[in-house]
Amino acid sequence: MWSFLWDRFATILVLLPLLFITVIVSTLSFSSPLTLEKKSSVLSLTVSDQQPLNLLGEVEDFSFPKQLEAPTPVYSPTMVEARLVQAREAIKEAARNRDSTSILEDPDYVPQGPIYRNAHAFHRSYWEMEKVFKIYVYKEGERPMFHNGPCKSIYSTEGRLIHEIEKGRLFVTEDPEEALVYFLPFSVVMMVQYLYIPGAKEYHAVGNTVADYINIISQNHPFWNRSLGADHFMLSCHDWGPHTTSYVPNLFNSSIRVLCNANISEGFNPKKDVSLPEIHLRSGEITGLLGGPSPSKRPILAFFAGRLHGHIRYLLLEQWKDKDHDVQVYDSLPEGVSYETMLKTSRYCLCPSGYEVASPRVVEAIYSECIPVLISDGYIPPLSDVLDWKKFSVQVEVKDIGNIKKILMSISQSQYLRMHRRVKQVQRHFVVNPSPRRFDFFHMIVHSIWLRRLNVQIQG
Ligand SMILES: *[C@@H]1O[C@H](CO)[C@@H](O)[C@H](O)[C@H]1NC(C)=O
Ligand SMILES: *[C@@H]1O[C@H](CO)[C@@H](O)[C@H](O)[C@H]1NC(C)=O
Ligand SMILES: *[C@@H]1O[C@H](CO)[C@@H](O)[C@H](O)[C@H]1NC(C)=O
Repeated sequence: MWSFLWDRFATILVLLPLLFITVIVSTLSFSSPLTLEKKSSVLSLTVSDQQPLNLLGEVEDFSFPKQLEAPTPVYSPTMVEARLVQAREAIKEAARNRDSTSILEDPDYVPQGPIYRNAHAFHRSYWEMEKVFKIYVYKEGERPMFHNGPCKSIYSTEGRLIHEIEKGRLFVTEDPEEALVYFLPFSVVMMVQYLYIPGAKEYHAVGNTVADYINIISQNHPFWNRSLGADHFMLSCHDWGPHTTSYVPNLFNSSIRVLCNANISEGFNPKKDVSLPEIHLRSGEITGLLGGPSPSKRPILAFFAGRLHGHIRYLLLEQWKDKDHDVQVYDSLPEGVSYETMLKTSRYCLCPSGYEVASPRVVEAIYSECIPVLISDGYIPPLSDVLDWKKFSVQVEVKDIGNIKKILMSISQSQYLRMHRRVKQVQRHFVVNPSPRRFDFFHMIVHSIWLRRLNVQIQG
């Protein structure tokens, strides 16, 4: 399958000097290969006399990258690493000014308000990304399983991102030497479609193909070996995304994995992995999905419609189906009732996990200006590194499914109105534009990848 690559591989191998490079990872506790030399050169992520900024919320020991504090630096930063040092400094500085008004003028949008963990740090970080972030896309691999992905359906975010990166217009470089991250352009959805035969013993075919691919990449180029994958990323919206990466231990444990199935119990690690929203683009377009009536035109308290997938939905349907006029829960909508209309006439939209943790309902709710109610276990919602979900969503624990009505009724009208305004404000970060615009879905996911990359120092 890969024979076409071997000639090229041989040439490159002869030309390349053997590089032995270690990776020093910050305070993050990566698996052993990545913590070589950790003691002698620590990328410290906290400012000594200041409170660390936990932009990732729940993850207590994650803090926004701020500065290199290596007592006796043993590294010799390359050009690329030097730029990162500057970026970390600038972000640290901005984070300190969190209470003042923004010093950055931005023609498009100035992030501010409580939806952000730290609007200043985010804005600065976003600017730094625009200045220096560069992605190199490996050329190896053939369509349809590589360089390609679904742009419609529930898995659309996988294809949208792959296609946008492949276009090479934004953040992409043809020169691997100047890249900050390396993209592994395979699509798990396409692999499942082409390699998986239900019932046959083909389950491993997907994982093995990924392993073959990484093998080729690490033979053909010096970059995988020098970071053990820590500056490489893959992305997938398929339920099997996480599992497929487990065929390559360093891909699973070191690389940046951009996944819809951001399930902590399945190894999702928010310090290095990125939670990808699931966006159900039925026709491939988002026209008509955005916006909704004002709060006074939303008579229904809470709404859900969806099939019985997984135990959380089982509990939800069991407790609420046909039980209450305020909490309208359906496994299938009655004849003549439109799903979109329900989203737009409800105040709260229930988003329980199904067979996997992510739910397309979260973004559907945000698009329709309905407050998302996240019902999940071990799920890290998208953009949690930047957004404070508590300010514009409600999170209900699985054990509290029976109390949903009580919980929602106890939210005051003014608090509801605040959340409603904020949902409208976060919308822009989830919008999928045919041509990406600043601060939209595409840029925000790239920003999440950038943030993970800031936490890693590659020694050259
Ligand atoms: C990377 O490491 C693998 C396994 O140790 C080795 O087979 C391969 O030749 C190395 N790649 C390069 C470009 O040196
Ligand atoms: C990831 O690292 C953990 C802890 O070191 C290890 O137990 C696990 O097997 C690794 N995962 C894979 C897929 O290699
Ligand atoms: C998350 O992963 C755990 C462990 O594999 C699994 O038991 C659980 O069902 C998953 N959650 C969802 C919603 O799929």
